[in-house]
Amino acid sequence: MVASALDIQGFSRLDDEQCDARIRAAKAALGERLVILGHHYQREEVFRHADIAGDSLKLSRQAARSRADYIVFCGVHFMAEVADILSRPGQTVILPDLAAGCSMADMADRVKVERAWRELASVLDPDEAVTPVTYINSAADLKAFCGRHGGIVCTSSNARAILEWAWARREKVLFFPDEHLGRNTAHAMGIPLEEMVVWDFNQPRGGLSREQIRRARLILWKGFCSVHQMFKPEHIDRFLARYPETRVISHPEASFEVCRKSHYVGSTEYIIRTIAEAEPGTRWLVGTELNLVQRLADRHRHEGKHIHFMSPTICMCSTMFRIDPQHLLWTLENLVQGQVVNRITVPAAEARQARAALQRMLEL
Ligand code: 13P
Ligand code: SF4
Repeated sequence: MVASALDIQGFSRLDDEQCDARIRAAKAALGERLVILGHHYQREEVFRHADIAGDSLKLSRQAARSRADYIVFCGVHFMAEVADILSRPGQTVILPDLAAGCSMADMADRVKVERAWRELASVLDPDEAVTPVTYINSAADLKAFCGRHGGIVCTSSNARAILEWAWARREKVLFFPDEHLGRNTAHAMGIPLEEMVVWDFNQPRGGLSREQIRRARLILWKGFCSVHQMFKPEHIDRFLARYPETRVISHPEASFEVCRKSHYVGSTEYIIRTIAEAEPGTRWLVGTELNLVQRLADRHRHEGKHIHFMSPTICMCSTMFRIDPQHLLWTLENLVQGQVVNRITVPAAEARQARAALQRMLEL
């Protein structure tokens, strides 16, 4: 007889320490059949169990290479979808809490992007003139859209190389869903702000005139990250007034003004590396998610590095935070019993088209 899946209810009452010991035991029982991937924004009680930690690019590469039967993704929904798209037949991808989404990814959906494409077609031939580029923080059907229309996926680590690739093919780029990553990257490449327009997906034709669309090289979807939009230029000014020696480092999902005032801008992996390579005794103001900043502060305290969070108010990624030790344990103990819960499966046709856009990225 096949045992039924364990219920999450019994797990939500456990404290973190109880979970910790049982997670280790379940991992030991599953051995090489399991790999746990963890994004840098995961809380410490979960992050410590990751076999591989990384940013979105590194984790998608790892997902493509893994030979484990079960890939448990401690991250958010779009990351688990990418893992499923790149996984081999017979592998199973699991997201410990299905409510771990990404509010930015939700700002673009297939209906709105297809409408934008049709509206662009009233001004030009988008399949001739526009490369669609989706940030990896997007649903699988948008990656599939890019796959169908000669487009590509990017992450915050490779956005520059991807935009170069895109402009080498077609004159314009439609970049979604993050306005800021697109603008910050293109500006750093020397594209003037006048050649960028913002597509307001709640307005007919993005709220743009035909002339604005014709002149633009970069059409930025009006989406943003609720965490990174909390960082403000005045936070940097105030901190520098007090500690002028501070080096400021931000994730490119932060606003243009914040990135302009930052000495360094890059992905989570870049932020980690830059601070690790800095001289002892340096002071850092960091504009990215709180769990990562706290981990960096703890990791480098013994070197006398002072690491501060940019915002005076607490802003963490509440959806990443949904992955807690209780849900992780629940998924693992189910696996030990031969039960799969919270499996992420991208429909085959969509996965094929999305894979094309992801492969273009991974090959660059
Ligand atoms: P990274 O690709 O830098 O890990 O960023 C992912 C993300 O969601 C940042 O908000
Ligand atoms: Fe999405 Fe922002 Fe959370 Fe990253 S930090 S997963 S972009 S909501």
